Amino acid sequence: MTILVTGCAGFIGSNFVQTWLSSSNEAVVNLDKLTYAGNLANLDALKDDPGHIFIRGDIGDRSLVSKLLAEHQPRAVLNFAAESHVDRSIHGPGDFIETNVVGTFNLLESVRAFWQDLPPAEKEAFRFLHVSTDEVYGTLSPFDPPFAETKNYEPNSPYSASKAASDHLVRAWHHTYGLPVLTTNCSNNYGPYHFPEKLIPLVLLNALAGKPLPIYGDGQQVRDWLYVEDHCRAIARVLEAGKVGETYNIGGWNEKPNLEVVNTLCAVLDELKPRLDGIRYAEQITYVKDRPGHDRRYAIDARKIERDLGWKPQETFETGIRKTVQWYLTNQAWVEGVTSGAYRQWVGKQYGA
Ligand code: NAD
Ligand code: TYD
Repeated sequence: MTILVTGCAGFIGSNFVQTWLSSSNEAVVNLDKLTYAGNLANLDALKDDPGHIFIRGDIGDRSLVSKLLAEHQPRAVLNFAAESHVDRSIHGPGDFIETNVVGTFNLLESVRAFWQDLPPAEKEAFRFLHVSTDEVYGTLSPFDPPFAETKNYEPNSPYSASKAASDHLVRAWHHTYGLPVLTTNCSNNYGPYHFPEKLIPLVLLNALAGKPLPIYGDGQQVRDWLYVEDHCRAIARVLEAGKVGETYNIGGWNEKPNLEVVNTLCAVLDELKPRLDGIRYAEQITYVKDRPGHDRRYAIDARKIERDLGWKPQETFETGIRKTVQWYLTNQAWVEGVTSGAYRQWVGKQYGA
């Protein structure tokens, strides 16, 4: 049997394929456009694995996707592909609409055409799993309850609005056409292969390079943090046992203000790779202009997936962050590969000189 996954040269997808193939004989066809965020080095460990078939292409390319579906006959399609960075969505929302909204629409149409013609038993067993974010729910005040699956959508950034639109399309393709869909909404991930435009890898690499650690606004914005392998296990579990048409919120019960995240990271670095001059990494913290429309707090109520599917995160923030720091310290070649070219241009645009 085979599954078709999209966007798996990116951060979460590449972790997912590796986790999947380490515990399953089921092959993975990986369709990825290789945007700036897609990196084949994330998949180096699978170079000689016959269970991993990489295809470069766009989820919006209906003829390519239809050809892949016909050729590989997957029993499920998992959609990780997206433009995923809030700050980039503020600078240029067009790509987010193109991939997250129009791309998801085209993917749904290709999958629907394939699924409709399957024999009854395969049609019944087929799944379309859409990977989404907690950001679709909007922002919380300090004493609001965390996001449950019943929370109304109130997206505030071009990124979250485009993901919300894609979630709605997935829902509609189930209700209207009967496509057997599952949707997951997860909180902020961190871990290996995380592109250093996002907070944790950016701070980690800037710290080691002796550069400022940029904190937007007052640094008191709260996110829930989940170690990426825990997210990958949750997705596999939803695919295995999730109820068709349902959504599952995935989170780590790790609500933390950004400043605390950065201080924890600095403390782990002080221990594992202290600065030669004895100064603490936290001294590099620098407050910068806040992100426009910055959501104040996200928090996930993960009781549904815990209760119905028996999933629980295995890492605490403290164990996960330590593993993450260790991974970046021992994977210098990967770090050098991603911190060149297009990435440098982005840093110049976002943070100036
Ligand atoms: P990422 O930006 O690291 O990777 C995205 C991947 O998608 C890249 O490999 C890119 O080349 C590919 N891609 C982009 N447009 C494409 C297209 N049109 N066709 C095919 N491939 C395309 O993103 P990520 O952090 O790994 O996130 C993966 C998914 O998980 C996204 O849907 C994101 O919204 C969701 N998510 C992310 C987080 C997080 O904390 N990173 C949290 C919750 C949900
Ligand atoms: P990010 O990693 O971009 O994820 P998201 O915006 O999807 O939550 O940012 C996480 C938090 O860190 C968010 O509140 C913005 C903040 N942040 C900074 O303070 N400084 C930075 O340089 C970056 C990239 C993010």
